[in-house]
Amino acid sequence: MDTASVARLGIEDLAACLDLAADRQWPRERRKWSFLLTTGEAYGLRDEKDLAGSVVLSRFGPRLAWVGMMLVAQRWNGRGLGRTLMRYAMDRAGAGTIALYATEAGRPLYESLGFRVTGTVSTHRGRFLGTGARTGRTRPFTPADLPAVQRLDAEVTGADRRRLLTGYLRFAGQVRVLEADGVITGYAGSWRDGEAVVVGPVIAADLADAKTLVTDVASTVDGPVRLDTDRPFLAAWAVTQGLARAFEVTTMVHGNDLPGDRSRLFTPLMQALG
Ligand SMILES: CC(C)(COP(=O)(O)OP(=O)(O)OC[C@H]1O[C@@H](n2cnc3c(N)ncnc32)[C@H](O)[C@@H]1OP(=O)(O)O)[C@@H](O)C(=O)NCCC(=O)NCCS
Repeated sequence: MDTASVARLGIEDLAACLDLAADRQWPRERRKWSFLLTTGEAYGLRDEKDLAGSVVLSRFGPRLAWVGMMLVAQRWNGRGLGRTLMRYAMDRAGAGTIALYATEAGRPLYESLGFRVTGTVSTHRGRFLGTGARTGRTRPFTPADLPAVQRLDAEVTGADRRRLLTGYLRFAGQVRVLEADGVITGYAGSWRDGEAVVVGPVIAADLADAKTLVTDVASTVDGPVRLDTDRPFLAAWAVTQGLARAFEVTTMVHGNDLPGDRSRLFTPLMQALG
């Protein structure tokens, strides 16, 4: 199958995407896929049986594009579909940096396409021990905060994620902000998929603020919480809060380094989006 066979996927392909994920022992994350199929550009390859491969491209202005949900059905393993889908996404990504979080399975393919490793993100899961104990230092996001949150997000990610954030505000279960002298210096949100509540993004001025935001977002969750981070100190703290290390992925970029002030991005919004 070549790039001419690649087709745009939409929300009508949700069931096929969930089946494809399950074929690779990935969870059936219905809400996540629905969000990605409607806010990102999803592409796929089909065989006579069903969906054989997928990739989701998200473009955030001229400087950054993110790639996620790269999956190829087992029956097509190692036969070039992953490469075809990735090339297709890269052709459409524009001239800026292309970034993704790679599994061990995906990394050799991305390396052969010119991506380089820039870091490691660990995923933590469990029941948050601070349940019920808000710090009182954060408050819920209100619509009036939108311009300030968009500005902060753009500074930190170096990207135009305004469209994404608009969709995220409907998708997220909660979003909280942290202020210093009346200025929003951090924000964090969480979203649910099935049983688990995923904390992300977490944007904060420093580690102490990141912990405060995570505590205030996670402390009301009754059930498993997931937190992804590339910060060793936040990861170590997460473990002390009951969130055990589950797995790791590798941050990879193509082109320039990631734009923005990444020192303030403690947790991605979701791995497929950065
Ligand atoms: C990762 C994945 C999408 C790759 O899809 P695929 O269609 O099998 O990959 P392709 O056949 O296009 O390309 C494999 C390429 O990667 C390289 N590669 C794959 N496995 C490798 C390995 N173990 N060691 C070295 N190189 C390897 C090869 O260079 C091959 O290149 P070639 O075309 O020159 O032979 C697929 O294995 C998959 O869905 N895995 C499970 C889900 C997952 O982890 N997705 C990645 C998320 S980041």
